[in-house]
Amino acid sequence: MIWFPFKVSYKNLLGIDIGTSSIKIVELSRRGDKIKLENYGEMSADAFYEKPFRSSDGSMLLLSNSEIAKAILAILEEAKISEKKANFSIPDFSTFFVDFELPPMTKNELPEAVRFSAKQYIPMPLSEVTLDWAIIEGAPKNGGLSSSSKILLVAIPNTIIRQYQEIASLANLKLQSIEAEAFGLLRALVKEDKKTICLVDIGAQSVTVNIVDKGILKKSHSFDISGNEITQVISKSLNVDVKEAEYLKREKGLLLPELAKVLIPLVDFIIAEIEKTSHNFRQTDGKEIEKIILAGGSSLLPGLKKYFLEALKTEVEIGDPFLGILYPEVLSESLAKFSPSYAIAVGMALKGL
Ligand SMILES: Nc1ncnc2c1ncn2[C@@H]1O[C@H](COP(=O)(O)OP(=O)(O)OP(=O)(O)O)[C@@H](O)[C@H]1O
Ligand SMILES: [Mg+2]
Repeated sequence: MIWFPFKVSYKNLLGIDIGTSSIKIVELSRRGDKIKLENYGEMSADAFYEKPFRSSDGSMLLLSNSEIAKAILAILEEAKISEKKANFSIPDFSTFFVDFELPPMTKNELPEAVRFSAKQYIPMPLSEVTLDWAIIEGAPKNGGLSSSSKILLVAIPNTIIRQYQEIASLANLKLQSIEAEAFGLLRALVKEDKKTICLVDIGAQSVTVNIVDKGILKKSHSFDISGNEITQVISKSLNVDVKEAEYLKREKGLLLPELAKVLIPLVDFIIAEIEKTSHNFRQTDGKEIEKIILAGGSSLLPGLKKYFLEALKTEVEIGDPFLGILYPEVLSESLAKFSPSYAIAVGMALKGL
């Protein structure tokens, strides 16, 4: 989804993900058909401001634009990144996604028909949002529709676009595009896969369950309860401080029976949401989920992949956004420790390369 009307191929690009617990920046470059990891950097919210970068209640970023820009500048300086062109991700909950059917029509009739339908689905005046859309089902003919087709519509409030424009400008960056996180995950983790995939991002604050069918995003739904809540629960139940709880979570996770006992209700809640989403998809599209790809820092919880596999009886994979990207061999070990949490930043940097 491109929000600014120029289609250029860039040699180097930054992808920036402002998450609740940290900001992640990835710089990728393209040489011929090879994509190379040039640089990456992260700033945790605790380390920088002792409060999260954003809330999960839909009110977006908790800090001022200039505080966020300062954190971005600190990452760029520390990682010695000089590239200025950047794609930013925005939280899924600040974007509206909807799909709907349109009857056969010509190319000229399409934009008006989409706008007309958009009015019914977008809970905001169309003058306050920027729309983007794509034909996701049915046969397009000369850009028009030769049969009844399905359209995926995305709307971003203009206030959000302006906010990210300001953050980019305060950080001396050239904003190329902004896009909902789900599209970044898809681009980074679903490579030419013909399957019906459930992409689950388990972050610090929220979980997003996406369904991708033949490479197209079909459903996306977010809810709270996540990595940080898991840490709180461990801290309370085992009577240890948050730091110790975070350590236990990352090192032992579900593999330690005392921890598993307190963690399983939270994990089961996530699994129930996945089951609900796949049930709905079965009803609407008549298809089964064939594979689950996990992303987000909390997908690294020890034992989680096996637990998902046993509970959902579906192939489960922890997404590696650096797969297929060139990087120095010495980085392998450190990238493996956090790669699923970089999926959105990588997906953003890949866009337009
Ligand atoms: N090895 C690990 N095991 C369990 N949890 C981990 C591990 N590594 C990181 N985490 C957790 O992952 C979370 C951070 O993930 P991520 O960077 O994807 O979140 P975020 O993007 O900042 O948050 P959100 O997407 O909710 O806005 C933290 O809660 C952290 O404790
Ligand atoms: Mg995130």
